[in-house]
Amino acid sequence: MRQSTDLLVIGGDGLIGRAVVRCARQLGRRVLRTSRRESPGGALPLDLGRDDVAAWEPPPARAAILAAAVGSQERCVHDREGTARVNVEATVTLARKLAAQGTFVVFPSSNLVFDGATPWHRADEAVAPRTEYGRQKAETERQLLDLGASVAVVRLTKVWGPYVPLLADWAVALRRHRPVHPYSDAVVAPVWLDDVTEVLDRIAARRLAGLHQLSGDVDVRYADIARRLAKRLGVDPALVQPVPSMLQGGEGFPAHTTLAPAGEGIRCEVAVSWAVIEAVIDEACDRAEGHGVKVAS
Ligand SMILES: NC(=O)c1ccc[n+]([C@@H]2O[C@H](COP(=O)([O-])OP(=O)(O)OC[C@H]3O[C@@H](n4cnc5c(N)ncnc54)[C@H](OP(=O)(O)O)[C@@H]3O)[C@@H](O)[C@H]2O)c1
Repeated sequence: MRQSTDLLVIGGDGLIGRAVVRCARQLGRRVLRTSRRESPGGALPLDLGRDDVAAWEPPPARAAILAAAVGSQERCVHDREGTARVNVEATVTLARKLAAQGTFVVFPSSNLVFDGATPWHRADEAVAPRTEYGRQKAETERQLLDLGASVAVVRLTKVWGPYVPLLADWAVALRRHRPVHPYSDAVVAPVWLDDVTEVLDRIAARRLAGLHQLSGDVDVRYADIARRLAKRLGVDPALVQPVPSMLQGGEGFPAHTTLAPAGEGIRCEVAVSWAVIEAVIDEACDRAEGHGVKVAS
């Protein structure tokens, strides 16, 4: 008989999956992860888009975190079928298999299950996604919540920290006196990656079923973040040149992304959005220095 593990992380190479594995190992848990990469380096191979998930035999585990997904909204629009196969069908099939063998399932979802017309969407409000990615998340949530006490759905606003490639790129460009073009209509209420991983681990370890929500405290415009970065770098604020996202052919962004904190038994204070943003700006400036560009303190 195979020895049971504490935590199985599906998609152990992504931002959240990698951080969850690290956090759980630091807490002394026995962790297994899956990967779809060619040389998974100790991980179990699993590709939700190609493998027959119904035939895959999950290892015995007390809990699993489903961190594998196609997170690009653009890809969801351009390949609705292919992305739904991963984000909905394979994810639900896998969750059912895990729940049937007694593994508690934790599914990270998104504020984009709501339309964002108002701030602070409550967990008990009806979902109303405006994007294909949001529709896929909402459909997966619906099917997983039908599994009852075996599942937790954890809705997250944007997860940042400390390295955010977009801001790191902006820092390098600005320091070289090149313009940057944040979306003028996009906002973010980020939560800190380490806080998210701790909460996911706690929900998994204590098998806290149902809906949970983690959010930043205020929506901040990307253009204002770029202006703050320009100020910190001591460069001309005119280098920040916002553009409407719809010009890029996307689905548009919600006016609000904040979620009312929700969840039994977890610490669910809201994150301070600007504290997260400042920490990410610090990292972006450090990296810009590493590229040989001098940053004013
Ligand atoms: N990050 C956020 O701000 C945020 C906010 C709300 C909710 N979420 C949700 O949290 C979950 C994890 O997000 P993340 O930010 O960690 O995403 P990520 O960094 O893009 O990682 C996604 C992971 O899924 C894997 N994956 C993609 N397609 C796959 C497939 N066909 N089969 C197996 N694995 C596949 C990727 O593998 P490769 O590394 O090989 O590409 C990667 O390891 C997602 O469900 C996302 O929607 C994230």
